[in-house]
Amino acid sequence: MARVSFTQVSKRYDDAVALDRLDLTIEEGEFVALLGPSGSGKTTTLNLLAGLIEADEGEIRIGDRVVNDLTPDKRDVAMVFQNYALYPHMTVFENLEFPLQARDARIATTEVEARVGRVAETLGLGELLHRYPKELSGGQQQRVALGRAMIRDPKVFLLDEPLSNLDARLRIRMRRDIKALHQKLGSTIVYVTHDQAEAMTLADRIAVFAGGRLQQFASPAEIYGRPANLFVAGFVGEREPSLLTGTLARAADRLRFTSPEGELLVPIAEAPHVAHHAGRATLCLRPEALVIASDGEPATITEIEHAGAEAFVYARLAGGAELCVRAEAGAGHRPGDAIRLAVIGARLLAFDPDTQFSLARWT
Ligand SMILES: Nc1ncnc2c1ncn2[C@@H]1O[C@H](COP(=O)(O)OP(=O)(O)O)[C@@H](O)[C@H]1O
Ligand SMILES: [Mg+2]
Repeated sequence: MARVSFTQVSKRYDDAVALDRLDLTIEEGEFVALLGPSGSGKTTTLNLLAGLIEADEGEIRIGDRVVNDLTPDKRDVAMVFQNYALYPHMTVFENLEFPLQARDARIATTEVEARVGRVAETLGLGELLHRYPKELSGGQQQRVALGRAMIRDPKVFLLDEPLSNLDARLRIRMRRDIKALHQKLGSTIVYVTHDQAEAMTLADRIAVFAGGRLQQFASPAEIYGRPANLFVAGFVGEREPSLLTGTLARAADRLRFTSPEGELLVPIAEAPHVAHHAGRATLCLRPEALVIASDGEPATITEIEHAGAEAFVYARLAGGAELCVRAEAGAGHRPGDAIRLAVIGARLLAFDPDTQFSLARWT
């Protein structure tokens, strides 16, 4: 276990900046997800920490040591990749013992067996030790890859999209396994993913990246509920939010949002975090921030997407804006129906249209 820190770390490839002056400190024992779209600098960050690539600027520390000039094997980290990278001609047992033999060719057989046994038990691989990788399911292969990372008891685990080759349900099951593993081992984990749901469920804190820059580093609840900018707001959440740019102003006890595309009213008491603002704003309205309610703005249903227990209703305001609202399945809505849409004030997210920074003041 160890704390990890990046101080003003940058990495360029030719003219492209892959990582731009990263400042990030991960506490000992913490599970941190690096979240962002493809090409945002997540793998670069992980590879810099592993020592697979070199920083152009800045300082990287693991524990108390500056590791910039240390080779990967001196850094005491273990990495798990998306494609498992198991040795196909070796059994599970041989795959697991390999890192031990590689480090110390004279390690005692009893020591190897004890360590492999411990890891196999933790990961439920006991029955599979004599199989070859091709005789395992994707989930089992990924567990072996995790086991191979665990075997040396590294200071830090680095995982790069370890579940993205698995099907959706297995991915959710493996998430729980990884979470349980972290609770058991208490190790520092840095976990790269482009899947916001995976980051939300696994991590103690999430570092959101875009374009090689850290956008926000905070708990899942804060990333979701109090996003620092429009990018973060749009990237997290199950569904794409509706965006509306216009003007926000106080009108008696309500906030009035006006735009050529539509109007919305929100009681100030429900949205105190934006009540101080008067002027231009971009609203970011997630489906769960809207509700079909009799005191809302008139809208016409354009489309309904059924999603099992719930439905996503698309509706157009008089001004033309189309908003998506989450509703219960079986409510009997149909395209063409007239409804009314209201904003759930506490979930109202508003951003500066120019800087894209949040306008909210949370107290
Ligand atoms: N070896 C490389 N040579 C040139 N450009 C690279 C190399 N590795 C990464 N990049 C670029 O750096 C940026 C960040 O890449 P990466 O960290 O792999 O993104 P992510 O893991 O978030 O998808 C991307 O624009 C990518 O094209
Ligand atoms: Mg990557």
